[in-house]
Amino acid sequence: ENGIQIAPSILSADFANLESELRRIAGADWAHVDVMDAHFVPNLTIGVPVVEALAKVSPIPLDCHLMIEDPDRWAVQYAEAGAASVTFHVEAARDPRAIAADLHAHGARASMALKPGTAFGPYEELLDHLDQVLVMTVEPGFGGQSFMTDQLPKVRQVREAVARRGGSIWVQVDGGVSADTIEQCADAGADVFVAGSAVYGADDAAAAIDELRALAQS
Ligand code: DX5
Ligand code: ZN
Repeated sequence: ENGIQIAPSILSADFANLESELRRIAGADWAHVDVMDAHFVPNLTIGVPVVEALAKVSPIPLDCHLMIEDPDRWAVQYAEAGAASVTFHVEAARDPRAIAADLHAHGARASMALKPGTAFGPYEELLDHLDQVLVMTVEPGFGGQSFMTDQLPKVRQVREAVARRGGSIWVQVDGGVSADTIEQCADAGADVFVAGSAVYGADDAAAAIDELRALAQS
């Protein structure tokens, strides 16, 4: 148990000022970077060169969430670019074990994401190869969507599988996480919390991070 961790998503930051936007979240545990390719999801954000630039200036480690096709080809490049953790979507992966091994060989944590419509059961055996499972609590693609309460049983199911296995795999939630929803996520067993609009939409991002952390710990 690594305790509660907060990972603000820079998807809701000012893309014209990313260095100063990273400084606003220096009190968080991770900077969550949403990479989208306009194929896996209907939105296009940033790629390897920008991640490389962010890694050089970020006060906290980068947590790259790849919402892209062909992570078998691309995931390792985000590790090489300096991301300390890389999440691939299992729906897009041909060989999740190979992706995880590749990431580990480059010193990054390996994380697998599940879209809301994707069941965890068929992938449980992959836990042996992973450092984290991300349960999406919105349809991936955009910030500012409403939290999907119906994903909480899956969070619980992942946490129980991790506990049975006796490992220290983290369970991350992403999408609609706010002061109103974070306690339910923590109750269900999540320990890493992505929040975009709830942090960057606040006047005082540092205070918003502290509030989220306190709620998740309570
Ligand atoms: C959605 C992204 C999220 C997004 C979360 O596809 O993966 O990381 O930034 O934004 P909020 O917290 O506003 O739902
Ligand atoms: Zn994300």
